[in-house]
Amino acid sequence: MTFETKKDVLDWYEAQPSSITPEFLSGIPWADVRQYSFPERLVPVLYYMRDVESLTDMYYRELRRTPTGRDPHISKFMERWGEEELVHGKLLDRFLNELGYETDAEWQDSVRASVGRFYKAHTYAITTLTNLIGKQFTGTHMMFGAINELTTGQGYRRLMAKADHPVLTPILRAILREESLHTNFYSSVARLELRDRPISRKLARFVIDHFWEPVGGSALGQSRSNYTIAQLFGDDEGRRVIDSAVTQRLRHFPGFNGLTAINKAAEKCIRAGQLSFAAAAQAAL
Ligand SMILES: [Fe+2]
Ligand SMILES: [Fe+2]
Repeated sequence: MTFETKKDVLDWYEAQPSSITPEFLSGIPWADVRQYSFPERLVPVLYYMRDVESLTDMYYRELRRTPTGRDPHISKFMERWGEEELVHGKLLDRFLNELGYETDAEWQDSVRASVGRFYKAHTYAITTLTNLIGKQFTGTHMMFGAINELTTGQGYRRLMAKADHPVLTPILRAILREESLHTNFYSSVARLELRDRPISRKLARFVIDHFWEPVGGSALGQSRSNYTIAQLFGDDEGRRVIDSAVTQRLRHFPGFNGLTAINKAAEKCIRAGQLSFAAAAQAAL
């Protein structure tokens, strides 16, 4: 699918139906959740993914202060995107509840409150800087969005395979369909921005090469992020998925040939996650 303008991308997106409809929601057999086992080691992964989903509106608020967020097509997309991500977070929260893990009614506020002051100040400063750069930064924002959606989608696929839980699987499938629409929106706008603007291309490549890390780590804590990445991608198949479904795809974007930053950042998280898991297991003996 190729698009010539951002409006074309938005028109395509708006023509796509949501997967998580009221009918879908009312058909989820919540009462069956406890009939099947769920690996305990994946519980922190569910919490992490729930929290990442619910931080979306924080990212959205920040982005609205920039030329990217003021772009009429991008902001129109982001309204629906933000709502869909919040629904994903709520579904994961409900699943945790049904499994028997208590979550507080105000969990979304607690997640937002737990994001450190340093992170908020840092993000604020970055946003202010991107305002100075102006529209040239939109390509970078869109690349970040594309990579985060792509890696999140692959993370859900891995979670679905590893948990193999009959109630969770269809929920994750529906979430995944929406994540893939998000990926396509961000990727398509990123391609247009990078194709048309040589400076944007250089800037995006530089920022991704030097600063990309799996989504949520700096807001929610590196150790939670490392644990999640190690659980989902810390085996041969996981590494293969990162390389083939993420890196190889991104290398076709304008200015992104030879990209290695994603594989390297993921590997760093996997190692740190496995080390701390081994240390915790040893301490428990
Ligand atoms: Fe999501
Ligand atoms: Fe998404």
